[in-house]
Amino acid sequence: MGLRIAVIVGSTREGRVGDGIAAWFAGVAGTRGDIEVDLLDLAAFDFPAALPQRATGEMRRFVDAVGASDGFVVVTPEYNRSFPASLKQAIDYGYDEWHAKPVGFVCYGCGSRGHHAAAALRVVFAELHTVTMRDEVAVDLMEAGPGPGHEPAATLLLDELVWWGDALKRARATRAYVA
Ligand SMILES: Cc1cc2nc3c(=O)[nH]c(=O)nc-3n(C[C@H](O)[C@H](O)[C@H](O)COP(=O)(O)O)c2cc1C
Repeated sequence: MGLRIAVIVGSTREGRVGDGIAAWFAGVAGTRGDIEVDLLDLAAFDFPAALPQRATGEMRRFVDAVGASDGFVVVTPEYNRSFPASLKQAIDYGYDEWHAKPVGFVCYGCGSRGHHAAAALRVVFAELHTVTMRDEVAVDLMEAGPGPGHEPAATLLLDELVWWGDALKRARATRAYVA
């Protein structure tokens, strides 16, 4: 069976473009035979406004999906030089479910192509014991949306993700991660 890769739609903003960008990426990823792609849209979860003492069913549903995945592609916009709060809220619900898994980024924004958001996420994901992929798919919203011109970057990102995903899946099956 191929690796299970979750494509996480990070924006929950009304009128967002992130769902379309994620659908494009999932379409490219879906043509590969070595992965199974799950769309994990944060807008489809009814998360609580305040962090409760006990996880709600919706929080557990998200964390279970993270735990069932072998790797992740986070589709993130850039808001004020970082990533949106919706993404941080969801990421923080999990801990060991993220461990020893690869994370890639599809980032977008106006001009900066979302690079600042991806850079900020790398710091967060280091704390969660993930391995972040060097190469990103970066989309400038001032130009045309993602399309054939972005496919080489998507393929490179997925090649890196599959290499790490495969290696880390074998390693997790061999011995418990240290953390
Ligand atoms: C609150 C807010 C802050 C933003 N800050 C930036 C920014 O710092 N850099 C940038 O390139 N684009 C910025 N933008 C533009 C967004 O990247 C753009 O609106 C994008 O469509 C947001 O993604 P979404 O539509 O999927 O929510 C900002 C947008 C919002 C709503």
